[in-house]
Amino acid sequence: MKVLMTYDMYRDGFIELFEKYDVTYPEGRNFSFEEVMEMIPTYDVLCPMFNFPVNKELIDNAPNLRLIANYAVGYNNIDVAYALEKGISVANTPDPVIAPTANLALGLMIDAARRITECDRKLRIQRDTMKIGILENMGTHITGQTLGILGMGRIGKALCKRAKACGMDVIYHNRRQLDIEEETKLNVTYVSFDDLLKKSDFLSINAPYSPQTYHIIDEKALNSMKSSAILINTARGALVDEYALVNALRNNNIKGAALDVFEFGDFPVPELLELENAVLTPHIGTQTDKTRLEMAKTVSDNVIGFIEGDRKVFFVTNE
Ligand code: GLV
Repeated sequence: MKVLMTYDMYRDGFIELFEKYDVTYPEGRNFSFEEVMEMIPTYDVLCPMFNFPVNKELIDNAPNLRLIANYAVGYNNIDVAYALEKGISVANTPDPVIAPTANLALGLMIDAARRITECDRKLRIQRDTMKIGILENMGTHITGQTLGILGMGRIGKALCKRAKACGMDVIYHNRRQLDIEEETKLNVTYVSFDDLLKKSDFLSINAPYSPQTYHIIDEKALNSMKSSAILINTARGALVDEYALVNALRNNNIKGAALDVFEFGDFPVPELLELENAVLTPHIGTQTDKTRLEMAKTVSDNVIGFIEGDRKVFFVTNE
């Protein structure tokens, strides 16, 4: 079995994979798309990073390919429909990313509400708390407020539990409504997309990105939100029309945003960097040592399980 990995990360998580198969990986760097295009024809398994495009062109050049094992829960970098059509399986790493991503979403929400990084910036620049003024740092109340969750999958549910611990009410919108037992257990209410926009004091995006969810939060959606609302995005940037968001933040159509992902690569548009009411982090949702190691182990287990049939594989389906 020949395995091609596009990155060189967390080798400790791949020990078993390296022992079992012939694995090619770049030393201390990432392979470029062109390099992978050149090598792929002889490989059985491809392990790409979440931002490495596995498109039709690459798939068409991979006659031996049987599995694409993504290093991420998100798989919008892969043309899944085409891969499956060609008989190539796709796998991802859902379990290890749930807690860290939900933790970051909660952290970003609290940061934006209580203006933590904004106050930190002010404090460092002014170096005198008195000058900042007592009333200037007023934040948004969290307890008793309504969190709207767009996308009630594993991460959405983990965020819901955390929000409940903060005393929040939670409403959600999802492609499919949860069954009544689960709704009762989570103590959440299903609402239409329009109601989610209208009723949320905080709106967290936890839905996967696909052509159907492209710009789901656009100018119209932003205009439907409360002017006191705060938007949190730890999913994928292109779910939000980033320029429409800049306008909404500039014009105080919404109160704030906390973003870990951006529409154009992993970097915000320059206009966002100028806004005090935006908290911005560089796609760190899964960036903890433990998570990244566990993600590596999951990729490794996905490949070994696929070949040997001796353990669980997290297959991606085309839905
Ligand atoms: C990270 O963004 C992931 O999809 O796992």
